[in-house]
Amino acid sequence: MQDKDIYILGIESSCDETAAAVVKNGRETLSNIIASQIMVHRRFGGVVPEIASRKHIEHVLPVIDEALKEARVPLERIDAVAVTYGPGLVGALLVGLSAAKALAWAAGKPLIGVNHLEGHVFANFLNDPDLEPPFLALVVSGGHTALLKVTGYNSFEMLGQTRDDAAGEAFDKVARVMGMPYPGGPEIEKLALAGDPKAIDFPRAMLDNPFEFSFSGMKSSVINYLHNQEQAHRPVNKADVAASFQDAVTDVLVQKSVLALKGTGLKEIVLAGGVSANKTLQDKLAAAAGSAGARLVHPTKILCTDNAVMIACRGYYQYVAGDRSPLDLNADPALKLG
Ligand code: KG4
Ligand code: ZN
Repeated sequence: MQDKDIYILGIESSCDETAAAVVKNGRETLSNIIASQIMVHRRFGGVVPEIASRKHIEHVLPVIDEALKEARVPLERIDAVAVTYGPGLVGALLVGLSAAKALAWAAGKPLIGVNHLEGHVFANFLNDPDLEPPFLALVVSGGHTALLKVTGYNSFEMLGQTRDDAAGEAFDKVARVMGMPYPGGPEIEKLALAGDPKAIDFPRAMLDNPFEFSFSGMKSSVINYLHNQEQAHRPVNKADVAASFQDAVTDVLVQKSVLALKGTGLKEIVLAGGVSANKTLQDKLAAAAGSAGARLVHPTKILCTDNAVMIACRGYYQYVAGDRSPLDLNADPALKLG
């Protein structure tokens, strides 16, 4: 154990949440402030990048102030400023990044650029003090779906990704065609509670590569089903559609995760990204991992979707490894994982 406590200020602004947090020694959350723009974007059916940037500008400084205040840690006591620099919306990323650079420079603190997706994986360390690499990660966010081998705190090996839509994107698009508000994932999950997951047999694309995903065919088949019902003047049971679609997505995610557990011999799998808040996914994966002799870890609900605690946690492990970013660090909207 280090002889002095380490405090990291995390800042996140990659999409539609402006967030700041203070984390002690990598694993203890002292504050977690999130200003969500969901209600602002809802009437447009999705995130409008220009509006997102403007809202981040309004929120970023008050959110950082509040995070420091709630943690009762003054800026002078912070050891480093960790900030998301990609992937995400470039105009949104630049707001958090600029604020972080200005703070780091003014307070004489190191700047640490964090990969947002690695942050999602690290959200699991906040929830489980015993979790340590190596483990498998199923990353399921609005823009990404991937199976990642986490071999160390700073080493990752990509096993496979989606070839087209991300899982969260498929949830959002299906919800949208069914007339539900953005973001679609939680809406589909709610509606599915009243539906029969076996009512409609949507296709499950398994592909030749066991660790790659494809969700666009599944999304199209839901759209075709709705269209055909309408053409034939047959009623649509939306709860059945939601439950059957959710069942199909989670079946694929779970089956491929189990193949990856067996293929790698790893005994722990973590969930990362917004879709990991889905209870059906958590329950099915916990059961399947258990049958394969492995254990599932997932973040608490607030840490499943975008937040800055995960960024501070990821930043901590980069900090102790001596990783520092230059003050001319640029946003990288297409930053890769692994
Ligand atoms: O990680 P996240 O907050 O933002 C990105 O980094 O993309 O993920 C947002 C995605 C959205 O597509 C949203 O619909 C999905 O996560 N999501 C869910 C649930 N909660 C959020 N999908 C399924 N079930 C949920 N409960
Ligand atoms: Zn995210």
